[in-house]
Amino acid sequence: MLYNFPIAGQPDGPPETLRTPSAARQVYLETYGCQMNVSDSEIVASVLQEHGYGLTTDASRADIVLINTCAIRENAEQKVRRRLEYFRARKRKTQGALSIGVLGCMAERLRHKLLEQEQLVDLVAGPDAYRDLPRLLEASYESGQAAINVQLSREETYADIAPVRPNAGGVTAFVSIMRGCDNMCAFCVVPFTRGRERSRPATSILDECQQLIDAGYNEVTLLGQNVNSYRDGNVNFAELLVRVSMLSPTLRIRYSTSHPKDCTDELLHVHWERPNVCNYIHLPVQHGNTQVLRRMRRGYTANHYLGLIDRARTLCPGISLSTDIITGFCDETEAEHQDTLALMEAVRYDHAYMFMYSERPDTYAARKYEDNVPPEVKKRRLTEVITLQNRIALENNRKEVGCTHTVLVEGRSRRSAAQLRGRTDSNKMVVFDRHGAAKGQYVRVRITGCTSATLLGERVPAQRRLATHMREAGTLLTAA
Ligand code: SAH
Ligand code: SF4
Ligand code: F3S
Repeated sequence: MLYNFPIAGQPDGPPETLRTPSAARQVYLETYGCQMNVSDSEIVASVLQEHGYGLTTDASRADIVLINTCAIRENAEQKVRRRLEYFRARKRKTQGALSIGVLGCMAERLRHKLLEQEQLVDLVAGPDAYRDLPRLLEASYESGQAAINVQLSREETYADIAPVRPNAGGVTAFVSIMRGCDNMCAFCVVPFTRGRERSRPATSILDECQQLIDAGYNEVTLLGQNVNSYRDGNVNFAELLVRVSMLSPTLRIRYSTSHPKDCTDELLHVHWERPNVCNYIHLPVQHGNTQVLRRMRRGYTANHYLGLIDRARTLCPGISLSTDIITGFCDETEAEHQDTLALMEAVRYDHAYMFMYSERPDTYAARKYEDNVPPEVKKRRLTEVITLQNRIALENNRKEVGCTHTVLVEGRSRRSAAQLRGRTDSNKMVVFDRHGAAKGQYVRVRITGCTSATLLGERVPAQRRLATHMREAGTLLTAA
């Protein structure tokens, strides 16, 4: 994901050729990777603004380029390297007036390599070192020497830092609730790049959510690599969700990511009992075969996972589910791959993020197993997984035609100013004709068509809305 910051606070100045004092220096911040990185960039923006730096979306006007990086797969790193090489060439043209910094997960993984061996960058800051950025920037700026801080912390949650959101006045916001991961899945680099799990105090999360409500936001996504492990004293994740949901009935709450090995009934009950906790869970399975799951060190079997899905559907009828899948993990046989396809057929996810296995240095898999599924086989299996998922998503979406959903409007559709886009409670994107609706509103939309990725709909006119409402109220009363 590429995610740039628009100008926040200070207007862009003319391009600088000479070094300028820190207060006037413009920072261009580019973000790759997961939602946690997007959220971290909002922390970085806040720290820098506090110290007088300006933020610009125009890289050509920047004195400092910071790239917030992802190390999850080889191709994610390659993308960043190409970007760094591009900026290094730019730096040469400006006779060194441009400073280049690497933040995030690659910074943690490649540390000195980036600075010393390859001399690609002037600054390296790991995910727990963002408070130190002003000092690091000054140090490298003043001395012309590379500056580095990749210290991981057991406590840092940036709880007291108010993120600077690029979509200020937006509809939906990320709120980081925990950092790090202790799960040590065999394939995954995250525990190495982000360190140990730690939870942010519940009070600071609730305060931030309240501020977002006051600023007009209608949706928050609570973020962590494994939100089910959240704990602050006697507040666990289910309790935190309840507390956030009580702040305002019109605030929608989503979260990402929850780990199947500790997704509890208590959490599922919260989904059902709290109407503003969305009826949707991203529950990455990674694979459909128990032996592969064991090799992946995921801590659950395929049957346990399927049982969990049944439980979720029993306790929360109509719940929407999405997943992550990896093809071609070490020693994966054709039969094991077929089990992934079978599990997908059984669960019928609404959405999936699907990847070919990419070996990451130092992980358990890299140390203990051989990355022995040939690339063309990994790719073919991935194509099969994607093709199947597209078919299932389309079939699921077709069942939505004729249904009416409450949609939170996120903005205009990408294709036309006459159309808006928004999400259902179940996290499905809907595009519909504007008819007077605006960003941030909840509107009732009847689904009239679909693709595998998007629902198409029409606003339910006011009279019909009332009728639908009455019907629903009647149904609820009958059900009660
Ligand atoms: N914490 C989340 C996942 C974060 S990483 C969870 O446990 O569900 C996002 C996704 O990237 C993972 O779910 C996995 O599907 C994928 N991924 C992680 N490491 C990978 C690797 N080495 N190769 C391919 N995909 C990987
Ligand atoms: Fe990686 Fe597993 Fe942690 Fe997710 S739970 S971040 S896949 S180690
Ligand atoms: Fe990538 Fe780091 Fe997120 S490796 S997926 S940016 S936690």
